[in-house]
Amino acid sequence: MTDLAKTTFTETALDALAEAEGTLAVLIGADGKLGRTAARANRLSRGAVARAVESEAFGKLKQGQTRVLGFPGGMAAERLVLVKLDRTADAETARRAGAAIAKAASTGAPLRIEADSLRRAADLVGGALLRNYAFTAHKSANGAQMVPEITVAATKPADVEAAAAAPIAVAGGVFLTRDLTNEPANVLTTTEFATRLEALSDLGVSVEVLEEPALADLGMNALLGVGRGSVSPSKVVVMRWEGGAQDAAPLALVGKGVVFDTGGISLKPAGGMEDMTMDMGGAAVVAGVMHAVAARKAPANVVGLVGLVENMPDGNAQRPGDVVTSMKGDTIEVINTDAEGRLVLADVLWYAQDRFAPAAMIDLATLTGAVIIGLGHHNAGVFANDDALAEAFLAAAGAEEEGAWRLPLGPAYDKQLSSRIADMSNVGGRPAGAITAAQFLQRFVKDDMPWIHLDIAGVASRKDGTDFAPRGATGWGVRALDRLIAERFQG
Ligand code: BES
Ligand code: MN
Ligand code: ZN
Repeated sequence: MTDLAKTTFTETALDALAEAEGTLAVLIGADGKLGRTAARANRLSRGAVARAVESEAFGKLKQGQTRVLGFPGGMAAERLVLVKLDRTADAETARRAGAAIAKAASTGAPLRIEADSLRRAADLVGGALLRNYAFTAHKSANGAQMVPEITVAATKPADVEAAAAAPIAVAGGVFLTRDLTNEPANVLTTTEFATRLEALSDLGVSVEVLEEPALADLGMNALLGVGRGSVSPSKVVVMRWEGGAQDAAPLALVGKGVVFDTGGISLKPAGGMEDMTMDMGGAAVVAGVMHAVAARKAPANVVGLVGLVENMPDGNAQRPGDVVTSMKGDTIEVINTDAEGRLVLADVLWYAQDRFAPAAMIDLATLTGAVIIGLGHHNAGVFANDDALAEAFLAAAGAEEEGAWRLPLGPAYDKQLSSRIADMSNVGGRPAGAITAAQFLQRFVKDDMPWIHLDIAGVASRKDGTDFAPRGATGWGVRALDRLIAERFQG
């Protein structure tokens, strides 16, 4: 498990500047005037701060961006990070500034941030924690380094600490999502995944693991068909956070948890197949949100359900052309065993509605390559049968700077799923592949159930880093969904 940096809050103390070790970050207003803290750093460094601030390069920085001075004179610090940021900066800018500081500081040395009276200091702390991540579980030497501890100095440290509790809880959820998504499939088997989810009970989440016999009794043949070729047993894990009113219907989150997707008998080509270790990214986001809401003790009822399977070719594997009967009762002709995520979700979506009668349902899945062709790695595909819920989600994603773009649903697309011998085919041909996948899922959503499908194939893991994450798993969606819950599902 990757831990968040240990964060402590302390009162601004100018006399502590000279002794701060590792990285020291100081704020500079956009007008370039030095506040009391920056002025002290300037005096200690014999004018180096003022020279840097007056430079053309610093003048060109946007708010939230940084400039680093190495081994500044007159101070114990190895790095002095000058952060262009007004004390009235908005939450987004403060968060980006925090992330930029963490990126500049990522060396294994401690970090001290002089936040002075920054209004959105808690958001800055949140940004720093999010960016201070490295997946080192399988590195024998300390390659990528993280900041082990962050000291935040502020004029009102208790206020900042109180306000930072929620961003810290959410960052913990993001780290859980990233760790699960980055973990290779020989380590993160379905069984290991379930074990890691059971640890959420430490935060007060009730966790229940449904094994294959129970899934067979429920009639989840669409899900079970996908896992038939694997030695890892298929599972459904149900996580419940009951922080809201006792009788309030929960929000249901449903995640695709394909721990590895070879394509099955419709085998994928070798090139890039290793990326399919992240095909459980949807389930990992569900886990991360459960962590976040439990860690911040959200007054909301949220239930998370994930279908954990491995899609492997084998003598016992499902074949192209097989027909399976879903829990709902509809039959599916499996034309392509590589369109497996929708088969898993069909049964988990139905079970979620059947058992919990949720107020709304949101599923997440690394579902299609087609969504990457359409939107690249900058936006997840958003599909919804409820405009108000979709708008609320898009607003939450916007506020968290998690890219999301709505795509259409419609009966004409649904027609592409017709099958000669069963109620539907599991593929709809090449045109509009992300949409026909969503249409397939919608067949397992009751008409009056507000529902969003998030196709996160392009955003769950990235080859390049983002402002808030190094390359690899991003944790996309944890922050947007936590915000949506805070804004729409808290009593
Ligand atoms: N897991 C893949 C989708 C995917 C592709 C995720 C790239 C992340 C990156 C999914 O199971 C899949 O194989 N989808 C097929 C569907 C097709 C057979 C209709 C695809 O997109 O090619
Ligand atoms: Mn597949
Ligand atoms: Zn898949």
